[in-house]
Amino acid sequence: MLGAVDPTTTPHWAALSRHARELDAVHLRELFARDPGRAERLTRAVGDLVVDLSKQKVTDEVLAALVGLAGDTGVADRLAALFAGERINVTENRPVLHVALRAPAGTRILVDGHDVVADVHATLERCFDFARRVRAGEWTGATGRPVRTVVNIGIGGSDLGPVMAYEALAAYRHPRLRCRFVSNVDGTDLVRALEGLDPAETLFIVSSKTFTTVETMTNARSARAWLVGALGPDAVASHMVAVSTNREAVEAFGIDPDNMFGFWEWVGGRYSMDSAIGLSTMIAVGPENFRRLLEGFRTVDEHVRDTPPADNVAFLTGLVAVWNRSLLGLPTRVILPYSRALHRFPAYLQQLDMESNGKRVRLDGSPVTYPTGPVVWGEPGTNGQHSFHQLLHQGTTVVPADFIVFAEPDHGPDDLPDADEHHDLLVANALAQAEALAFGRTADEVAAAGVAPELVPHRTFPGDRPSTLIMAPRLTPGVLGQLVALYEHQVFVQGAVWGIDSFDQWGVELGKALATVIGPELAAGAPIGAHDSSTRAAVERYRRWRGRAAPDTAAT
Ligand code: F6P
Repeated sequence: MLGAVDPTTTPHWAALSRHARELDAVHLRELFARDPGRAERLTRAVGDLVVDLSKQKVTDEVLAALVGLAGDTGVADRLAALFAGERINVTENRPVLHVALRAPAGTRILVDGHDVVADVHATLERCFDFARRVRAGEWTGATGRPVRTVVNIGIGGSDLGPVMAYEALAAYRHPRLRCRFVSNVDGTDLVRALEGLDPAETLFIVSSKTFTTVETMTNARSARAWLVGALGPDAVASHMVAVSTNREAVEAFGIDPDNMFGFWEWVGGRYSMDSAIGLSTMIAVGPENFRRLLEGFRTVDEHVRDTPPADNVAFLTGLVAVWNRSLLGLPTRVILPYSRALHRFPAYLQQLDMESNGKRVRLDGSPVTYPTGPVVWGEPGTNGQHSFHQLLHQGTTVVPADFIVFAEPDHGPDDLPDADEHHDLLVANALAQAEALAFGRTADEVAAAGVAPELVPHRTFPGDRPSTLIMAPRLTPGVLGQLVALYEHQVFVQGAVWGIDSFDQWGVELGKALATVIGPELAAGAPIGAHDSSTRAAVERYRRWRGRAAPDTAAT
């Protein structure tokens, strides 16, 4: 079975464990001091992205051993299987073909003998046509008015990618149209999204791969009621469209299948922002920009598919992530986009990475004996600097960081006369943070600067904290596609080394099932089943506070 090799049993793992012990005593200062060509040698490019790995705690030997580990664990074979449409999502018996979503028209990828690339392009054209009509004001609502607000209702992969892209590509948005996003079943989400909206100018996109997700269907029903209350039942036809794989459920909900945009079971939710799930993005930035986004994805796909591991940016970044997590034992990683436009990028990556690689058993069901996916978190710079960077610099947990920096702002002097000053400061801060994390400031340097002796320990920075710097000229649709594809493949490489199924998500199921048990128990007078004492007390407390308590319930 592909991925059946336990990485810890390979010769390269043993070598890497040795390197990790040796490097513990070697500071990043020393690695740079003894190697003037380090930055140049450890920097790679893909498309418009320049990726500098030199501030990671690696050496040429470590990288070579990591590439060896990828060989030992069959990562390249698994990647080839992905591109070939093999069923590498073994626990769901599905192919994993997000790369087909951006494959050029005319190429062929077969699933059960059927060319899925042709389906992708046919659906894209339908989506683009719809997006064009909405943008041109030709798609009109029940009263004949054009759409002004698009409300995407979806959660997880049916929300995070679209929101992230909408924010990231704000500079490319249509001036008349705005999007809002509703994900949480907390009614506040929908209430706030609908605030100030005119139903006659509102279009809902119900985005759900399965069309059964409780949060999305609850929000979609409430949105339908809001719409019907204002415009009557016939309004659903022109004010609600669906993106889903589940035609029957879409129809049963009351959305005309002609207004449904499909995708396929071989697209994982967290890998779907470039499918019809991106309909809100297509409407907001237009088909041409969406095509550029897809081209960006494709640039990285082709690089990843065709480049040997030692020069393959997804392999290298993925292998360094394995090194940090499994060999150096670093439990988290922080994503620091120095770009307000990417403020939802860390949240997007949380699902991409943690839902993919937050796994504890291998493909064959045996428990892993090594750490897998890290906790991913982050916040745009410079805000994080005034919040959690204290811990990054001086805390007891080392957190590898990804700095993402663009040379040009996504606004011009017309928007902000001091645009250059702002942007220079932004970039200077990113580079300064990475420098400070890597090199720190020794006690001697602090003392030499005249700091009082009792404050020297407090003002000393240990440094030796790893980071990757990703730079691009500007955050364009194409660059966004490249960035997302790079992380997608990086997640893949990690999962392949770890021998886990990066494409299932069974870990979300238990909580969903328990919620369906607890939900009815919250009603007045309903029997409360067997629970632990804490859960039972919380159910009773909730009922009491909501005036639903049984008279004899203990008041705790
Ligand atoms: O519960 C997790 C999950 O299945 C994610 O993997 C998915 O992105 C999200 O729920 C939404 O699912 P759907 O698009 O089917 O509503």
